[in-house]
Amino acid sequence: MNEPNPSDRVLIFDTTLRDGEQCPGASMNLGEKLQVARALARLNVDIIEAGFPIASPGDFEAVKEIASTVEGPRIAGLARCVDKDIEAAAQAVEPAGDRARIHVFLATSAIHREFKLRKAKEEIIKAAVAGVQKAKSYVADVQFSPEDASRTELEFLAEVTEAAIAAGATTINIPDTVGYTVPDEFGHCIRYLKENVPNIDQAVLHVHCHNDLGLAVANSLEAVRNGARGVECTINGIGERAGNCSLEEIVMGLRTRKDAWGGLWTGIDAREIYRTSRMVSQLTGMHVQRNKAIVGANAFAHESGIHQDGMLKERSTYEIMNPEDIGLDTGTELVLGKHSGRHAFKDHMQKLGFPLEGDELEQAYEDFITLADKKKHVYDDDLIAILQQNMDEVTGAYLLKYLHVSTGSQTVPTATVRLEKDGNVMEDAACGDGPVDAALKTIERITQVPGTLTDFALRSITTGKDAQGEVTVTARFEDGTLETGKASSTDIVEAGARAYLNCINRYLGR
Ligand code: KIV
Ligand code: ZN
Repeated sequence: MNEPNPSDRVLIFDTTLRDGEQCPGASMNLGEKLQVARALARLNVDIIEAGFPIASPGDFEAVKEIASTVEGPRIAGLARCVDKDIEAAAQAVEPAGDRARIHVFLATSAIHREFKLRKAKEEIIKAAVAGVQKAKSYVADVQFSPEDASRTELEFLAEVTEAAIAAGATTINIPDTVGYTVPDEFGHCIRYLKENVPNIDQAVLHVHCHNDLGLAVANSLEAVRNGARGVECTINGIGERAGNCSLEEIVMGLRTRKDAWGGLWTGIDAREIYRTSRMVSQLTGMHVQRNKAIVGANAFAHESGIHQDGMLKERSTYEIMNPEDIGLDTGTELVLGKHSGRHAFKDHMQKLGFPLEGDELEQAYEDFITLADKKKHVYDDDLIAILQQNMDEVTGAYLLKYLHVSTGSQTVPTATVRLEKDGNVMEDAACGDGPVDAALKTIERITQVPGTLTDFALRSITTGKDAQGEVTVTARFEDGTLETGKASSTDIVEAGARAYLNCINRYLGR
């Protein structure tokens, strides 16, 4: 096989922890973000955008912790072209040493200049240059994004790009911020910049596409065909509104149709795709639709008799990729049960991408045995759910210690709840319209945090009548904040109560 050409390499910039996490209801706590960052490192992404440090102390801490502990990829922190943003980003990414990147952005389109920024073109260029120079005073690796680039006049976009590179930007990222562009037009934009920005060879050109018209992957592919060499994307395509370009689709698209994309390649270890997708889905509560390309449950399922017959004769009749290519070894999911020992459990968690040690291992093993007592087979998704619950508990303020519900067709549903916070135990009881309502009302009485449920979704994590039910709850609190919480249990009322408590803890943790 020919050695791939280094100039054909497409860098993968993963923004699951920044743009992905911006998507309503997908927020993650520090422990969850660290798990995802480690999984991204195993996937071998080139750059992890770990967060927007000025946005909140939690974001700052997460970027700093990832920069301190995650090895391999470059670690980027986002900043507006504003001094305090850049200072916070510099401080947060500093522990990554020479792998630290600051990503500054400023809108350039007429619509943003006129209505959002109220700045003339010259002022935009001045602010972009000042932002890049300030970032450059902290790190060598500076990325500049002209926000809403795809709706910016091409001549002005070229001018801003040239000025940002001259000021020290080593990566220029062209965002289709509102998912408005189409492949031909976006490809032309990239080609135009390649041909009209005199210093363009001094920077790597990235693209960052949103999926409002379902074109994020197509637009990104057309951009790399026309000279871009970095794609910004997220696992499962999560992100603002309709999401971002999906990492697994861009990577497998380039890989499966090398012939169509002129031999472009990425450094991604595709066998990590499937488990990373599952991890992100579990930790964010953003379910992957069954028919999602590459990682959906149906992506490698063949239902019709004709297809099944063809598959048995020759796989390539109906399969353009092997499930093993993305780490989906069908039929080999190891099922653990109550006789599985600590060592097998630890080993299995490690393979799933969760290296556990010490107290964390003990707690997770104990919870696994409790679950295995209730449930014959414990599947991978059950295990991830257990771990996620523990991650909440490490950072959560209130813990559910006891729940008793009495309900029935002739009974007023009543719940008794015991919570613990900082070693204090609190107990109360309340009635409700149903068992879940009674449990949530009691939690509200104890915590004194009033909230309104805007969504309550229940799904089965695995198969079988004894499967765990996963409840995802979205609640709006008094100041208008929306929080999403999730929890799982073989008892769906308990899962609902834990999920609601998870929302309250996230709200209080802000
Ligand atoms: O969509 C966008 O424009 C962004 C920028 C911050 C790159 O996310
Ligand atoms: Zn974006």
